[in-house]
Amino acid sequence: MRRIAQETINRVLEEVDILDVISQYVDLKKRGQNYFGLSPFRSETKPSFSVAPDKNMWYDFGSAQGGNAVQFLIEYEKISFPEAVRSLAEKYGIEITELGNKEQNNLYDQLYEIHELACIYFENSLKAASGSKAKKYLIERNFDDNIINKFRIGFASDSWDSLVKELKDKFENDILKKSGLFSESKKGPLIDRFRNRIMFPFFSLSGKVIGFSGRSLSEKEDVKYLNSPETLLFEKSKIFYGSYQTLPNIRKQNFAILVEGQTDFLRLVEQGFDNVLATSGTAFSSKHAIALKKYTNRVILCYDSDSAGINAAIRTSYVLLQNGIETRVLHLGNGDDPDDFFKKENTTKEDFRTLIKTAAHPISFIITQKEILSQGAADQSKFLNECIGEIQLVPDVMIRNDLVRKLANQLGVVEAEVFERFSNLKQKRYKSSHKEEVSPTEITHYNSSEDKAQLELIKLALHSPTLATGMPLALFSNKLLYNVLKVLIDNSDKDYNPGQILELIGGSPEQRNLIASLAIEAPDKAYQTVILSDCINTLERQPIKKEIALLRDKIRRLEEDDSSPDKALLEELSALQKKLQ
Ligand code: CTP
Ligand code: MN
Repeated sequence: MRRIAQETINRVLEEVDILDVISQYVDLKKRGQNYFGLSPFRSETKPSFSVAPDKNMWYDFGSAQGGNAVQFLIEYEKISFPEAVRSLAEKYGIEITELGNKEQNNLYDQLYEIHELACIYFENSLKAASGSKAKKYLIERNFDDNIINKFRIGFASDSWDSLVKELKDKFENDILKKSGLFSESKKGPLIDRFRNRIMFPFFSLSGKVIGFSGRSLSEKEDVKYLNSPETLLFEKSKIFYGSYQTLPNIRKQNFAILVEGQTDFLRLVEQGFDNVLATSGTAFSSKHAIALKKYTNRVILCYDSDSAGINAAIRTSYVLLQNGIETRVLHLGNGDDPDDFFKKENTTKEDFRTLIKTAAHPISFIITQKEILSQGAADQSKFLNECIGEIQLVPDVMIRNDLVRKLANQLGVVEAEVFERFSNLKQKRYKSSHKEEVSPTEITHYNSSEDKAQLELIKLALHSPTLATGMPLALFSNKLLYNVLKVLIDNSDKDYNPGQILELIGGSPEQRNLIASLAIEAPDKAYQTVILSDCINTLERQPIKKEIALLRDKIRRLEEDDSSPDKALLEELSALQKKLQ
């Protein structure tokens, strides 16, 4: 990503109204100075998510994370820092100044531009006379202009080089190659990758075209769907088709319908089920689950009901469950996929809605599909162990217990029996799953009175920056808090809000969350001066206490040597002790 100038970041944090930004995603109500709402990061019934507009900060008490407006977008949209700054700057009309490696900037810019131009070219080809066959195909499949325009569906003509011709004067050959839209062949150094195909673009979360999937229009062609290869813009292991358009709906409805193909996706959107996503040709990975979990922790799987689809649904269920996502499986039967389902006469939206409501528990789905209940005891036992092997990789205890309960129930064994096998197998498997976990978070403890005083002072300084200059920086022993105070003092003439200060400090997410937690709670004004002097006092006493300890040690050693302590030393000690009173 290209680097954005600090001045742009600063302007964004100064001019953007955090309340305005967050209100678009969270329903906020004023309470005291701050605003409160339900956390967008976890499900909860009591609002613990708060926004302090005057400080340009938010803090989620439940998950102990917080930050400024930019960090909110990063957490919420799961985008990078530059993407978040860019998106806010664009929205609020702030000019973006860029720095950094020109060549790299140029490469990304050009790749985005190639994709945008290609998308426009495909869209136009579909509308042109030469695209009439493709257009007719889409109409026959019941996809109207609304859907075509919303998802920017296009057509790649049956030619080796029409896109090459379109772009070759605007870009260098090696950049065109990096886009993944072309390949090398005997026919030429660069030929169109997508030929005679309906083109479905993939979008980034900010709406930029980053890749394509093309459906062949020729029955002879054996590759029905051809996707862009992995490129700098197109990371297959975490991309969903349609996410740009539907993730906001998924968040609102708090569940996602997951389907296999673009046509299934588009059919459901067309039928009004707009909280859908498609995996489109890539196996569902943990990365997909992690990306999805930012938006919802509930998924209805509606894969094709043929045997490949059933196996994929079983696999995907486990990946979802193992990432803490509650899963249900909607099995259409008859080998149908969602597109087939709505093609039938007499099927209505209401029918599909009922199917969503009655979708199967994943364990029931697996047991039914694998016909476990008609198997002999030995096979059932083997199945039970296989299931337990998967279930013990489910980290969420509620989800895990629910799965065990269901399994016991369906197989007609006592739960305790399952749990017993579970713990036996657990020792074998648990270690290997554990390795993948992220390294333990570095936790900073603030236990001593000295640390606590520094925390309280920073809290005051964040709320009333003018107080910062009167605080004893040299006595701050905690490195992070020292840095925060230093930045506050250095910028005391600039009238920065805490959200801006946060950017200047940098630091790890843990440190940022700590500062956000300090900034969000307003200290009691009535006690401000008392707290200020008490804490400064605590810090000022600290070096004296150390000196006293040293002196006592010295005196004690002299006594051990049997030489009576120096009178001067004793006087010094008593003077120091007086200072502490
Ligand atoms: N797919 C793919 N490559 C293939 C076949 C399928 O990438 N050779 C992906 C596509 O994203 C496709 C999805 O897997 O949409 C499901 O495949 P399939 O069920 O065969 O396609 P349908 O969506 O049913 O396609 P259509 O209705 O156009 O026949
Ligand atoms: Mn299908």
